[in-house]
Amino acid sequence: SATKPDPQDLLAWYDHHRRDLPWRARPGVTADPYRVWLSEIMLQQTTVAAVKPYYLKFLERFPTVEALAEAPSEAVMQAWAGLGYYSRARNLHACAKAVVDKHGGRIPGTEAELLKLPGIGAYTAAAVAAIAFNEKAAAVDGNVERVMSRIFMVEEPLPKAKPLIRALTEALVPADRPGDFAQAVMDLGATICTPKRPACALCPWMVPCRARAEGLQETFPRKQKK
Ligand code: ADE
Repeated sequence: SATKPDPQDLLAWYDHHRRDLPWRARPGVTADPYRVWLSEIMLQQTTVAAVKPYYLKFLERFPTVEALAEAPSEAVMQAWAGLGYYSRARNLHACAKAVVDKHGGRIPGTEAELLKLPGIGAYTAAAVAAIAFNEKAAAVDGNVERVMSRIFMVEEPLPKAKPLIRALTEALVPADRPGDFAQAVMDLGATICTPKRPACALCPWMVPCRARAEGLQETFPRKQKK
């Protein structure tokens, strides 16, 4: 019945509305893997607005993965102070050392290799692989889960629905622009497909969105009753 969501419609929207964020490459220019990795770790439990000044200050103090690996842990913790979830900073430091010791200072470019590093989970591995290396990987965080559960009207509640949502996302990743696609879904979730009062009229996927067709967009994702 409904039309399928077209990744190219989302990418066209992204090309006009992409947020200009310091860790993002300019169109046609690939992002530095170290910067992408750092930003994805900082953004995991923290908003874009809160991350920005920390990210810039952190990069000034530790401009490369080598500089970070060589720094004393007190200096790393001090640069992180205020961002919270301090295990992220300890893992980041351990990960920088592993990249220097085991990969000659180059952040690995595949999802599978990234997953082996300390503190890098499924989301971060996919995000770095897609955004910094243009690997066809699906980065699924809470924003992406909300977008996909609405587009496909996923009736199964979270967290059970996670494997299905991951499969639906993977099937949409376009081979030509996986990194832009990942960030486009994130921007859509942050600015249009918000938890409350989503701005459906502005959404490039309004037509194929099944939840929207039923007027039920705010009721997705379904959540397991506790
Ligand atoms: N949240 C997590 N990763 C992000 C990114 N690369 N851009 C914007 N928001 C994000």
